[in-house]
Amino acid sequence: MTNKVLKLGVIGVGVMGYNHVRVIRDSEDADIIAVCDPSQDNLNKIKHFFKVENTYQDITHFLTKEKLDGVIISSPSTTHFDIAKLVIEQKIPLLVEKPLALDQEQAKTLVALASNNKVPMMVGYVERCNPVTLFAKNIIQNGNCGPVKHINIVRIGPFPKRMAIHRDGVVADLSTHDIDLLQYMTGHKINRLFSSLRYDDKQDMYARTLFEMDNDISASCEWSWISPFRKRSFEIVCDMGTLIGDLTEQHLYYYRNPIMTNPDIILENDFLRALKYSGLENEVTKYVIQKEEPLKQELKEFIRIIRENELTDCHFAVDVLNIMNCIYQSFENKTSIDII
Ligand SMILES: NC(=O)c1ccc[n+]([C@@H]2O[C@H](COP(=O)([O-])OP(=O)(O)OC[C@H]3O[C@@H](n4cnc5c(N)ncnc54)[C@H](O)[C@@H]3O)[C@@H](O)[C@H]2O)c1
Repeated sequence: MTNKVLKLGVIGVGVMGYNHVRVIRDSEDADIIAVCDPSQDNLNKIKHFFKVENTYQDITHFLTKEKLDGVIISSPSTTHFDIAKLVIEQKIPLLVEKPLALDQEQAKTLVALASNNKVPMMVGYVERCNPVTLFAKNIIQNGNCGPVKHINIVRIGPFPKRMAIHRDGVVADLSTHDIDLLQYMTGHKINRLFSSLRYDDKQDMYARTLFEMDNDISASCEWSWISPFRKRSFEIVCDMGTLIGDLTEQHLYYYRNPIMTNPDIILENDFLRALKYSGLENEVTKYVIQKEEPLKQELKEFIRIIRENELTDCHFAVDVLNIMNCIYQSFENKTSIDII
């Protein structure tokens, strides 16, 4: 495909769809030429703020009347499967917001459909495009801080009002980001988990999950909608030190472990080392991170795969849904679950 300005459309222009339109409108490589949503109010909002003239309440009209180079699906997760199928059948490249579908089987079907029809598809795991994630992943995978031992991720904040309508729980809405981050940043798979959830009026509002991963890595994640305080952060404890990242502020610190970085200190085991050198001051580095809106990066990548007609591997999005379902299973059965 030449370097012409791509004609994109968005299906579902609520909170996330609005952001997709906003970011593409700032891009020189693509434009939003049409949007589709059953809500006339939301269509009017997009018309008003971004001067997108072609608006549709009917998805079939939207897909057949417009000549689109790509479609972004940011409707509720419950609709992703049916809408993505329609888009793939029209052979239009697509970016589906996370999660790809509601369960592993639906997601598998979509991955196979996209592959059989040779349609480029991407899933919107936007934290993959956060510069802090990429910086930390690079440090870890280059082995610069030694093997990873433990990861702790916190993703908490106030209850989003729209979830009172969608009725998605905190696990369905938030966990998939971090299940993906754990595997994406380390390059290792989750093999077992144990989870504890807290429900309010049949909607899960708080969850804490412990994970075991390949390569002897342990991890824990906290997802909450009962906190008035918004936080998206990680700590990655490695042999030579700990990386502390803030995904919202886009800060990354590295606390060097004085025991492991001093070649004069050789003791026979972790316990003796910890005992003798506890309380030593750490050397701290604050990395200089070029801040960038992760969604902007994600959409650049979508434009690239459309231009290069690249068939990306979206199986990771199927794995993530399997693990998410195991979180619910673990809570229901009060037991740890092996991931198969
Ligand atoms: N990547 C992220 O960080 C992130 C953040 C928030 C939401 N999301 C995802 O984006 C999606 C949308 O979430 P949201 O928070 O924007 O929800 P929202 O309720 O704000 O917006 C959803 C929009 O879709 C419309 N809609 C409903 N049914 C539709 C249908 N059948 N066809 C077309 N449009 C339809 C609604 O009218 C609404 O305008 C969800 O899948 C969610 O998981 C991702």
